[in-house]
Amino acid sequence: MKLIVTKNYEELSKIAAEEFAKVVIEKPTAVLGLATGGSPIGMYKELIAKCENKELDFSKCTSINLDEYIGLNPEHEQSYRNFMNTNLFNHINIDKTKTFVPNGLAKNLEEECKNYDNKIEELGGIDVQLLGIGNNGHIAFNEPGDELSAGTHIISLTESTIEANARFFDSIDEVPRKALTMGLGGIMKAKKIILIASGEGKAEAIKGLFSGKITTDNPATMLQMHRDVVVVVDEAAAKLIK
Ligand code: F6R
Repeated sequence: MKLIVTKNYEELSKIAAEEFAKVVIEKPTAVLGLATGGSPIGMYKELIAKCENKELDFSKCTSINLDEYIGLNPEHEQSYRNFMNTNLFNHINIDKTKTFVPNGLAKNLEEECKNYDNKIEELGGIDVQLLGIGNNGHIAFNEPGDELSAGTHIISLTESTIEANARFFDSIDEVPRKALTMGLGGIMKAKKIILIASGEGKAEAIKGLFSGKITTDNPATMLQMHRDVVVVVDEAAAKLIK
């Protein structure tokens, strides 16, 4: 695992965007695994700027997102589809018909999960997967627990995640309790992974990534088994790494 510690969030966003951009330049048809949340916003701004300066061309790329809340309409302000459109897709030259986010309104959610995994296979797997990390070590919405799932699945969000995500909603009661999430198998099959984390709240989870131990209590520890992971964290998030 390659570790890059940056002074602050701004530098983190720049470096993560550089790492991500390398893949798109090398492979213009790349399949991009994307994340939502607070962490990638700065990096997405950098990618938008690179696209505007013609340093990057997304016209032949496909994207596949990690997760989506169950029950939120794609137009809902806090749906992950809306997040992606607003923070990235509306500002770059990607073909929106080639951007995939799980459908949290699907009538048959089990089938939606199966179809999502088939879609990843059909696309030939993910070339670069961007990940944030929960305060509790979740990646995508693979929450800590007794067991982890390989495939895309329905997950009940933990109290810690509901509390963390309440900042995006008017009240905690509005945070959906369930989501569809790519599983650890889908993530681990990505050819390259870039994980970003900023702030002290992530320090404990990040420490686990460099512990040499794998535990379902911190799902991100699984990434230690992957061949090509770049972890870009600011000093606050890195502070407990030994
Ligand atoms: C989002 C996702 C989550 C977030 C994580 C960190 O698509 O999969 O795992 O990356 O909850 O969220 P932020 O960046 O808001 O701290």
